[in-house]
Amino acid sequence: MTHSNFNASDYFEKIYERPVILEAKQLSQVFKHGKTERTVLNKLDLKVHKREFICVIGPSGCGKSTFSRVVAGLDPYHSGEILVDGEPISGPSPERGMVFQGYTLFPWKTVKENVMFGPRMKGISQMAAESQAREWINIIGLDKYENQYPHQLSGGMKQRVAIARALVNEPKILLMDEPFGALDPHTRQKMQRHLMDLWQNIDITIIFVTHDMDEAILLADRIVALKANPGEIKEIIEVDLPRPRSSDVFTTPEFRRLRERVDALVHAQEDELDPALAELPKIPRMTQISTKR
Ligand SMILES: Nc1ncnc2c1ncn2[C@@H]1O[C@H](COP(=O)(O)OP(=O)(O)OP(=O)(O)O)[C@@H](O)[C@H]1O
Ligand SMILES: [Mg+2]
Repeated sequence: MTHSNFNASDYFEKIYERPVILEAKQLSQVFKHGKTERTVLNKLDLKVHKREFICVIGPSGCGKSTFSRVVAGLDPYHSGEILVDGEPISGPSPERGMVFQGYTLFPWKTVKENVMFGPRMKGISQMAAESQAREWINIIGLDKYENQYPHQLSGGMKQRVAIARALVNEPKILLMDEPFGALDPHTRQKMQRHLMDLWQNIDITIIFVTHDMDEAILLADRIVALKANPGEIKEIIEVDLPRPRSSDVFTTPEFRRLRERVDALVHAQEDELDPALAELPKIPRMTQISTKR
């Protein structure tokens, strides 16, 4: 691979010149646990630029999904501000597409009906909604499956439908919370490639939550590393690897250098884990079979 014309500082300079599409200003989220309150996100400041690909990583329980839910408009937040194109988020909107953990397709609707759902809700006619849905079903390569139901599809196919269902609404932002977490490594790799292709070719900003550091480095322009208790931004890392990227990137010294940095960041947090995980119960012995050898 030669990418002699890739210049990282030019690349990021161009990104920062683009308008800010999403801005968190001192954003905090607090949950009540009985009589006590727990700060999960603590005064987050973040600016995401148009067409950026942002990956959010951090230990379990650090607030990644909490952050996604606030950006999606699913949860009200405690304090601070969160703006899309300068306007405060006040609820869900088709301009922020969501592809979340687990599959969230309607099981009683076919692939086509699932993808048509958004346009139909917007009041678009049956025929126009159908043709928009078909276009996206073609893009994700599932035209042969448009009349199938979700239970007839594999996990990877369902995730592709979920992506099409979000993209048909032409969102400005695509929010993805561990979208590929349940897929086998091979399917996951294909989905990563597919997502990068989509992102290169359409006008969209992606915020992608993942546990997988290789995935974050492969996909992101910038990685936002959160720390836990309370969730705060520990560091924002510019991924200065040439694009387009493929899994070949994993063998390069530049990748390994970044990987070590991200590893050190995340592992430094092992003692900052979710208290629920720190106090895992001891499992009582429930078998008579001897394990002695
Ligand atoms: N609705 C809620 N009410 C009370 N506490 C909550 C709520 N949602 C999340 N929390 C708490 O906030 C913390 C962060 O949860 P969150 O789901 O955002 O973590 P995460 O970083 O997405 O973890 P994982 O990597 O395991 O998905 C957890 O301690 C969780 O118990
Ligand atoms: Mg989560």
